[in-house]
Amino acid sequence: MTTLILGQTLAFDADPFAVPPTEAARHERRGAIAIDGGRIAAAGPVDALLAAYPQADRIDHNEALILPGFVDAHVHYPQTAIIASWGKRLIDWLETYTFPEEARFGDAEYAAEIANCYLDLALAHGTTSMCSFCTIHPESVDAFFTAAASRNMAIWAGKTCMDRNAPENLRDTPDSAYDASRALLERWHGRGRAAYVITPRFSPTSSPAQLEALGALWAEHPDCLMQTHLSEQTDEIAWVRSLFPEARDYLDTYEKHGLLGARGLYGHAIHLTERERDRLAEVGAAAIHCPTSNTFIGSGLFDMGLAARMRVGLATDTGGGSNFSMLRTMAAAYEVAQLRGTALHPAQLLWLATEGSARALQTEEVGRLAIGGAADLVVLDLASTPAIAQRAGQAEDIWESVFPTIMMGDDRAVAQTYVAGQAMLRRP
Ligand code: GUN
Ligand code: ZN
Repeated sequence: MTTLILGQTLAFDADPFAVPPTEAARHERRGAIAIDGGRIAAAGPVDALLAAYPQADRIDHNEALILPGFVDAHVHYPQTAIIASWGKRLIDWLETYTFPEEARFGDAEYAAEIANCYLDLALAHGTTSMCSFCTIHPESVDAFFTAAASRNMAIWAGKTCMDRNAPENLRDTPDSAYDASRALLERWHGRGRAAYVITPRFSPTSSPAQLEALGALWAEHPDCLMQTHLSEQTDEIAWVRSLFPEARDYLDTYEKHGLLGARGLYGHAIHLTERERDRLAEVGAAAIHCPTSNTFIGSGLFDMGLAARMRVGLATDTGGGSNFSMLRTMAAAYEVAQLRGTALHPAQLLWLATEGSARALQTEEVGRLAIGGAADLVVLDLASTPAIAQRAGQAEDIWESVFPTIMMGDDRAVAQTYVAGQAMLRRP
């Protein structure tokens, strides 16, 4: 049975960083998406789809804007309960807030409670897919994939590995990291909509032997993604230099151990040397921009100019990031780019939060309104508060109409979220 979802629609035919942004996008003032078996069967002007599917059920979202569901390319779901913790920079923040909270995830019941809480929050904010770090505990990985499977969500996640510079109860070893990661990968990778991601936290918390072991696992499973952190704060970089005196730079600590590649996701990537930029671009790796985290923890201003050279995803970095909302994250990306002298177009922001992140994750399954893709959608009310409504009321085109929601919107703007064609939110 086909269902037609009606509203304004916005689809991308090209990368708005490669062609003029407005030319990359296709807007239907009155559009529709046809959904069959959880997949997009057609997308286009409403009249054409009503004619093609006269018997279909209809859900009319009127003036609301239908987009691909947001794809959050870097989160730590176990940090849900410590989001918005005050007053620390990266290393202190990890030690004061993050590690004590992550230590709780050896308890499978607690892990399940937070996994479910996080995914409900993500869906309420219009995020249908994400790539998440878990904790060192296999229970945290099982809990997250189980919670996602119960919602039929496409997610990417992996066991966070650390064997040094972390509390005793949060350390594994090179061998146990390899063995547990491999067992989880074999259990979850490709099961339903789940994908396993090999996950060394970052060079300061992995010995060279552990990086080597995870590099070997990646070589054995080259279809998996690998995620980690890179050059987030200057004192972190100085620490890496002292821990790896023989490395040319931070990226080299990964490269030397088989952890640099086209399916690698490098979170933050702010303070890069010329060599690091060149090398990331050369191997076709993806950088993940986490703007609310980078301002909240005081890390620095990501260079969006990288998008001309390599794939860039957008992410909340929950809970170093200060918000679950990809709308708020787009607003922060806009502000950070302004501080570096560039005004990102709304088309570029929306693309980053959907197809840009999906491309970073090397998937065509989500992030696009494309025929055959999953019907994972977000429906945005472009007048969700009086402040937004009065500004959007003056708009002369879709970009002026959507930009106030990007800058001022939150979960109140999410009229509905669909996962594989199923409405996930109870809305009047
Ligand atoms: N670097 C290593 N671990 C983390 C983390 O959990 N959050 C952030 N923002 N940076 C990190
Ligand atoms: Zn992170």
